[in-house]
Amino acid sequence: TGLTTLDYGFVNTAATKSAITYIDGDAGILRYRGYAIEDVAANSTYLETAWLLIYGSLPTPTELAGFENRVRRHTLLHEDLRRFFDALPHTAHPMSVLSSAVSALSTYYEDSLSIHDPEQVELSTIRLLAKLPVIAAYAHKKSLGQAFLYPDNSLSFVDNFLKLNFGTKAEPYEVNPVVSKALERLLILHEDHEQNASTSTVRLVGSTQANIFASISAGINALYGPAHGGANEAVLTMLQQIKDSGESVEKFVERVKNKEDGVRLMGFGHRVYKNFDPRAKLVKESADEVLAALGVQDDLLDIAKELEAVALADDYFIQRKLYPNVDFYTGVIYKAMGFPPRMFTVLFAIGRLPGWIAHWREMNQDPATKIGRPQQLYIGEPERAWPSA
Ligand code: CMC
Repeated sequence: TGLTTLDYGFVNTAATKSAITYIDGDAGILRYRGYAIEDVAANSTYLETAWLLIYGSLPTPTELAGFENRVRRHTLLHEDLRRFFDALPHTAHPMSVLSSAVSALSTYYEDSLSIHDPEQVELSTIRLLAKLPVIAAYAHKKSLGQAFLYPDNSLSFVDNFLKLNFGTKAEPYEVNPVVSKALERLLILHEDHEQNASTSTVRLVGSTQANIFASISAGINALYGPAHGGANEAVLTMLQQIKDSGESVEKFVERVKNKEDGVRLMGFGHRVYKNFDPRAKLVKESADEVLAALGVQDDLLDIAKELEAVALADDYFIQRKLYPNVDFYTGVIYKAMGFPPRMFTVLFAIGRLPGWIAHWREMNQDPATKIGRPQQLYIGEPERAWPSA
């Protein structure tokens, strides 16, 4: 129609109103429900932030304790779902495993189809928060050929997750508090980012009245791509390639600027942040702290810092307002913690889960919600006659 405007990548089109997260990309501001990301990261926990995003205000201590207990009670996977992993190859990318298993959750919990029943939505919320980390850890264990552990509900959310990933049946596992604290902080930094590609996917699928597991499984698949969450894995691959090839950082940056084979500086650039990404600043602090505390020396961190310095001094990046984003330094930290690169985007997914849930619920409660159905501008053939025989 004459009213249709073309907007590739939805650069100018708001698809919804939302009260969850505020971003000012020019000023480098990010707020969850009005609270500055710096304050949330310094003072909160993953589950407290999840409550904040989902319910809109900070929980009382009693509310938080109740919430943590409910999540704890739902960590076990159905035994049949535990065996679901047996059918997948050990070479499977953990992101594919994650989205498949989350999709499979709706086969175990058909009550999740009652998307307008608040009690069922609440139960699905708790199930997702409790089970996604377990599914993620099993995807990791599967890739290593190691036995799965059962959750240990005496531990905190993050410590339980670390034990499921790094504990074995042969020895007791002791959580390193430095790792635990840093991981909690990183998860918080990823919890929401308004209408990014995966959250928009969750909303689009949810707008068809699909259940929350189906919607979030779709969001996980959207996050997988290297232009989105997959960037954290791609950054590490890039740093490793620079190291292995012996190519200088300056030479690599030249190739990026010349757009040689479409090579990009992964972990740089953002659709909304045209100043700096406030999360990247906090992540960079964590990188130095964690590596120092763990006594890890990693050449890849040095290469990353050199890359950042070279890029930030270069006209190409200055003119295009390209700054390091949240994914630039996270991989180096996850690596120091012992996670393989293929798990990095899975960690992003666990982080983003509360945001996806909050958006799905907000969308479902908004009477203005309509099925998502973009327009197109047709550029194909006009009507033509079918060739006669
Ligand atoms: N390296 C080199 N050049 C870049 C980069 C980069 N990382 N990002 C953008 N550009 C250039 C791009 O070539 C274009 O230049 P020109 O005008 O000469 O054609 C200009 O900057 C604008 O780029 P765009 O692709 O139109 O920007 P966008 O808003 O559509 O893309 C982005 C945003 C994040 C997809 C992109 O910056 C990118 O591909 N970055 C690398 C991948 C990455 O780190 N993604 C993580 C994003 S943050 C967390 C998350 O969402 O998961």
